[in-house]
Amino acid sequence: MKDSRVYLRALEPTDYKTSINWRRDDEIWGMLGGTKYFVSEAYEKQWVEKSIFDSKDVKLAICLKEDDRYIGNVYMTNIDMQKQSCHSHVLIGEKDCWGKGYAVEALTLLCDYMFSERNIHRIQAIVLESNQASLKMHQKCGYKIDGLMRDSVFKDGKFQNQYILSLLKDDFEV
Ligand SMILES: CC(C)(COP(=O)(O)OP(=O)(O)OC[C@H]1O[C@@H](n2cnc3c(N)ncnc32)[C@H](O)[C@@H]1OP(=O)(O)O)[C@@H](O)C(=O)NCCC(=O)NCCS
Repeated sequence: MKDSRVYLRALEPTDYKTSINWRRDDEIWGMLGGTKYFVSEAYEKQWVEKSIFDSKDVKLAICLKEDDRYIGNVYMTNIDMQKQSCHSHVLIGEKDCWGKGYAVEALTLLCDYMFSERNIHRIQAIVLESNQASLKMHQKCGYKIDGLMRDSVFKDGKFQNQYILSLLKDDFEV
């Protein structure tokens, strides 16, 4: 993506000072499939440090080119070289940066890396049915809906459905 306004970089040990604010935000928790948990500074610091030295996953920081501001994270996990597949995750934590196309640009950059450098064939994402921002964002990146997993998570006092989406290398256009 030549005209991207964001760039991806490795996580740095001090990033936890910013990302802890995202991890403590209830609106963000409500958009994610995982169970809400309470995060101490020590936990977040250790999570960032472990991520830096984790060679199994690809966990990167999203920054704005204009001022190097750290605005979110994007990851690829469950990398399986037999199936040539992995799972993608994206979070724009700085809410004033929502709706500006940054998630599409960041995820596209990492998908491009996974297809062209890591020889991945299929990238999967799981999205809460209620998270229309994430659904549209993934579709804009080229992901297609494979199906709807009914009552697949218990959140906010109720069972909720999640979309399973995938992006195949052949469908990917930068
Ligand atoms: C979901 C999230 C990643 C979207 O990031 P973003 O940078 O705001 O998304 P983009 O600006 O790239 O949006 C891409 C498309 O989604 C649509 N979109 C964005 N926010 C939307 C909203 N609140 N409702 C409906 N559509 C929305 C836009 O229409 C945009 O398409 P357009 O350019 O044609 O208008 C961001 O809100 C976020 O990080 N939320 C918390 C964590 C999360 O939900 N992560 C995903 C978990 S599966």
